[in-house]
Amino acid sequence: MEQELKQINFAFIGFGKVARAFARLSINRRKWLIKKYGVEWKITGIATKNHGISIDPQGLPIGKMLRSWKAHSNLNSFHNGPACDSHADFIRQCGADVLFEMSVLDLSGDPAASYIREALRAGLNVITTNKGPVATHFRSLSRLARQRDVQFLYEGTVMDGAPVFNLARHNLPATHIRSLRGILNSTTNYILTQMEQGTSFEAALEYTKNKGITEADPSLDLEGWDSATKLSVLIQALMGGNVKPNDIERHSISEDIGRKVRAAVRRDRRLRRVTRAYRQGGRVIGKVELQELEIFDPLAAIRGLSNILILNTDTMRELAIIENNPSVEQTAYALFSDLVSLL
Ligand SMILES: NC(=O)c1ccc[n+]([C@@H]2O[C@H](COP(=O)([O-])OP(=O)(O)OC[C@H]3O[C@@H](n4cnc5c(N)ncnc54)[C@H](OP(=O)(O)O)[C@@H]3O)[C@@H](O)[C@H]2O)c1
Repeated sequence: MEQELKQINFAFIGFGKVARAFARLSINRRKWLIKKYGVEWKITGIATKNHGISIDPQGLPIGKMLRSWKAHSNLNSFHNGPACDSHADFIRQCGADVLFEMSVLDLSGDPAASYIREALRAGLNVITTNKGPVATHFRSLSRLARQRDVQFLYEGTVMDGAPVFNLARHNLPATHIRSLRGILNSTTNYILTQMEQGTSFEAALEYTKNKGITEADPSLDLEGWDSATKLSVLIQALMGGNVKPNDIERHSISEDIGRKVRAAVRRDRRLRRVTRAYRQGGRVIGKVELQELEIFDPLAAIRGLSNILILNTDTMRELAIIENNPSVEQTAYALFSDLVSLL
């Protein structure tokens, strides 16, 4: 007798690069989900900021939506469900089991945090790639998820789909993380390492923008806010500290960094923007700082868009996670791996 499939309904907040890559990946792995978990999915709602909102309890025609998507597309034409006047309304009416929150980074954490709160209160699991709400509201959102007996997962907020939180959650039992350091911002690492080879600051930044790697507002990358926000998530989720992005000391980079990059190379060293956290007198301190590193430091070897995180633990000593030249497909995989951990 054929096993009956379990149906899972998805809703998206955001239909940008990450959301569309996740939709493509889910289509690509549809048969795998059926075979491995007996799970079939459909998307019952998508909400954006300027490109409309659509709900269809029968499932939106996602393949068609992806094929026809253009910068000026509007989702309203696919709407075939209850009227909704706001994003809160959308979350309550979309009929989803899982809300994928993929709107843009805002340092206040809002409005994404309010979307996540609304979804958790309504009993939806939430999976996000948006580090803003996780950093600013980590404790309250995690507590709310526990109270409602649903999951709040955020693997994609740091190093895309490379396992960081899932690694710590599932594979490092009874482990205390003493400190951590890494390179967590692809845009600035690409700029610094390309400038070592004579590329201009502007050309390197332009490349990362065209790759869809840079935040919608590039100053969030250049001024270290992206790294500080990721570090805040790491500190709260892995080290138990209560450190918000604003508590983290940051170094910006701008056009005039070329002189320091070249001076480091002349000394056979490398300039990197290092993100680190350590414990001091019962507190956790976070910093995002420019450092000239010895050539044999693992962080000096991280080039281009690649990222690294080294956890200093009391069980495994130093454990490094390296992500080589990520793209939006790896961010989509973070959402997918979080989804699988719900099944
Ligand atoms: N791109 C990456 O490689 C990457 C990697 C890791 C994490 N992330 C994170 O993933 C998230 C999505 O990134 P992305 O590259 O897909 O961004 P994107 O291409 O700019 O798309 C963002 C989407 O969010 C929607 N949106 C923005 N503000 C909103 C609001 N207030 N309410 C509802 N929807 C809103 C946008 O709607 P409109 O188009 O209508 O404005 C758009 O559909 C961001 O938080 C980013 O930091 C991205």
